[in-house]
Amino acid sequence: PLLIISKSFLSCFQIRIWARRTAIEQGQGHYALNVTGPVLDFFQLYYNISYPLSKSDQIALPDFYFGAMENWGLVTYRETKLLYDPLTSSNRNKETTATIIAHELAHMWFGNLVTLQWWNEVWLNEGFASYVSYLGADHAEPAWNVKDLIILDEVHRVFAVDALTSSHPLSSKEDSIILPDQISEQFDVISYSKVHRAYYMYSITHYSMKNSDTVYNKSQKMEANNVSLPRPVNDIMNCWVLQMGFPVVTIDTTTGKVSQKYFLLDPESNIKVKSPYNYEWLIPVRWMKSGEVQRDIWWLMEKEGMCNDSLWVLANINITGYYRVNYDHGNWERLITQLNSEHQVIPVINRAQLMDDAFNLARAQLVSTTLALKTTSYLLMETEYIPWQSALDNLHYYYLMLDCTEVYQPMQDYIKKLVTPLFLYFKNMTSNWTHIPDRLTDQYNQVNAIRMACRTGVTECQDLTTTWFKQWMDSPQENLIDPNLRSAVYCSAMAAGGEAEWEFGWWQFQGSSVASEASKLMSALACTKNKTLLERYLSYTLNPAMIRKQDATSVITSVASNRVGHSLAWDFVRKQWEYMFTQYGVGSFSFASMISEVTARFSTEAELQQLEEFVEENSAVGFGSATLAVKQAVERTKANIKWLHQNKQEILDWFNSQIQA
Ligand SMILES: *[C@@H]1O[C@H](CO)[C@@H](O)[C@H](O)[C@H]1NC(C)=O
Ligand SMILES: *[C@@H]1O[C@H](CO)[C@@H](O)[C@H](O)[C@H]1NC(C)=O
Ligand SMILES: *[C@@H]1O[C@H](CO)[C@@H](O)[C@H](O)[C@H]1NC(C)=O
Ligand SMILES: *[C@@H]1O[C@H](CO)[C@@H](O)[C@H](O)[C@H]1NC(C)=O
Ligand SMILES: *[C@@H]1O[C@H](CO)[C@@H](O)[C@H](O)[C@H]1NC(C)=O
Ligand SMILES: *[C@@H]1O[C@H](CO)[C@@H](O)[C@H](O)[C@H]1NC(C)=O
Ligand SMILES: *[C@@H]1O[C@H](CO)[C@@H](O)[C@H](O)[C@H]1NC(C)=O
Ligand SMILES: *[C@@H]1O[C@H](CO)[C@@H](O)[C@H](O)[C@H]1NC(C)=O
Ligand SMILES: [Zn+2]
Repeated sequence: PLLIISKSFLSCFQIRIWARRTAIEQGQGHYALNVTGPVLDFFQLYYNISYPLSKSDQIALPDFYFGAMENWGLVTYRETKLLYDPLTSSNRNKETTATIIAHELAHMWFGNLVTLQWWNEVWLNEGFASYVSYLGADHAEPAWNVKDLIILDEVHRVFAVDALTSSHPLSSKEDSIILPDQISEQFDVISYSKVHRAYYMYSITHYSMKNSDTVYNKSQKMEANNVSLPRPVNDIMNCWVLQMGFPVVTIDTTTGKVSQKYFLLDPESNIKVKSPYNYEWLIPVRWMKSGEVQRDIWWLMEKEGMCNDSLWVLANINITGYYRVNYDHGNWERLITQLNSEHQVIPVINRAQLMDDAFNLARAQLVSTTLALKTTSYLLMETEYIPWQSALDNLHYYYLMLDCTEVYQPMQDYIKKLVTPLFLYFKNMTSNWTHIPDRLTDQYNQVNAIRMACRTGVTECQDLTTTWFKQWMDSPQENLIDPNLRSAVYCSAMAAGGEAEWEFGWWQFQGSSVASEASKLMSALACTKNKTLLERYLSYTLNPAMIRKQDATSVITSVASNRVGHSLAWDFVRKQWEYMFTQYGVGSFSFASMISEVTARFSTEAELQQLEEFVEENSAVGFGSATLAVKQAVERTKANIKWLHQNKQEILDWFNSQIQA
């Protein structure tokens, strides 16, 4: 292995990046080297403690199960995480590299210099590192505004898991975590992502406690509004840390009543675990009224008064609090009207949140599915990434549930209608796809525009991607496709193409010396519509010479996410479970994510039965770290069956009404 060297600006120590010789020679380590100095400098100032060691080494390993591991002074990474090739890697790869480096280097202090006492404290370690990784990356790349992405990448992800009864509180008892599998289960999305908002709310609390004037004046205001005063900081934090889940705050502008309730995605699920706080939270509420941000923060405990004279109210501005918000129907309608007339009045993060709340409240039967769908109609005018991504994340569930039903075509037509203006917007912005947008989020949304336009059948998009791919096939030495767009273009070309495109992709995959490029091709190979090719691809995962062990799970889940490949992947997993489980074991396969992704589409009684049989047949072999994932898969399948039964007709009618209009 070779290395490249630089020095920190603040204090003098060596920074080295290690990787395969060719990777270093191609300059793939330079970006990591460039961000490490600023990130370490940031943390030295942030922690007010100098870097505790005399050197910093980071190494990219060609086959590595985790994303990265924070060994003190010698951090190990997957190649895709540490290396960045300026010629072929995308801006998304670059962002990943910056944030992962910041995460691992944060552990040099928090985790290594100070170490948790036992595994029940993993959330402190990982949650904090995950939180400050955004600050470190923001310091290294201030133009990106990475902190705005927290809402999508952390908060929405944890909302999804924390709304199930199978969730768990951040903090657990020391003696409840003994077995290796129990330790592995601690490294989940709750531990990594929930802390972002817990920490935010802690800051708000801390601030209002320190500034007694604020508290005094707020208390007057609060008494006038009949709002309870903040309790001691410990109480406020404990209700978020010791209870699993989170609340939905309901604001009824017709009566002025505000209330809270434990939010569960499945309204009929039983809460088996008792909570010391009875599933009530002390909630900081920041809100706005018809476009004006209100200055005070409410601490919501029980029912409280609220004025009702406004056009519309919107609570949880910028989602600084960890809760969902529901409104009376009239206020929802007024918010939707605002979105459809002048959407910019509502902050961009809240535009994303309105859709996410509405879709999830509909899943929980607190609002109608039609209302949730209506929050998307303004996307005709939306060009920002965060709301678009939020909408697509929510519609992803609709694709999973409905793309093998008669709803598929009307749904495709509706989304095509929304995404066509976005496609043209980016075509214009990039002067016919010849320039790269300036802002990071525009670069990301350009990918969404192409991915969704091609997928919903915008002919101009399909012609574009097929032509680009054809040009590459004609001169394989020279790939002119914009690195940012490659994932979307490869997948679209593979879906439209046949064996020749697939074989070309496989050949390029094998020959690629850049891990991130190989990874894009690897996902795209699963986009083909040819079942023979998909089956062949699945069988390659059993041969580490074809597909590395670290990548096997990802190939299987990519095939499962293709509507043509889903049942093939499930058959494959069932047939090979014992072999994979005993041969590879925990160190090579991410069994938990494989189970959740392969069963994600399950929505029929037959599939539920197959899943239950699978559980029974393999009870002797066991599920190891996937035990919880298997339990969740059964719970989710039952919920899907019910959801489909209750909603399919309503959704079909709504999509039909929109495409005729
Ligand atoms: C940093 O630490 C030094 C002593 O170690 C202390 O004097 C100084 O006030 C600290 N600075 C901040 C901003 O906390
Ligand atoms: C707080 O209230 C006091 C008394 O009502 C007033 O004199 C003071 O200016 C207020 N402070 C702020 C920051 O509003
Ligand atoms: C405040 O709450 C108390 C008790 O909950 C109630 O009796 C009172 O009417 C409320 N005041 C206002 C102004 O809403
Ligand atoms: C506000 O609420 C009161 C009841 O508390 C109701 O009488 C009144 O009509 C409401 N006003 C509006 C504009 O909805
Ligand atoms: C909300 O977040 C945006 C983007 O991060 C920021 O520009 C805006 O000032 C924030 N608004 C409020 C009211 O905090
Ligand atoms: C195309 O972009 C230019 C600036 O690059 C802008 O002035 C024009 O309004 C845009 N046209 C459309 C149809 O969006
Ligand atoms: C984009 O291409 C169209 C023809 O397809 C042409 O009319 C237009 O001028 C081009 N715009 C730019 C900015 O190159
Ligand atoms: C699918 O691929 C196989 C193997 O490459 C090929 O023989 C077959 O003709 C393809 N089927 C279709 C429908 O394209
Ligand atoms: Zn970590």
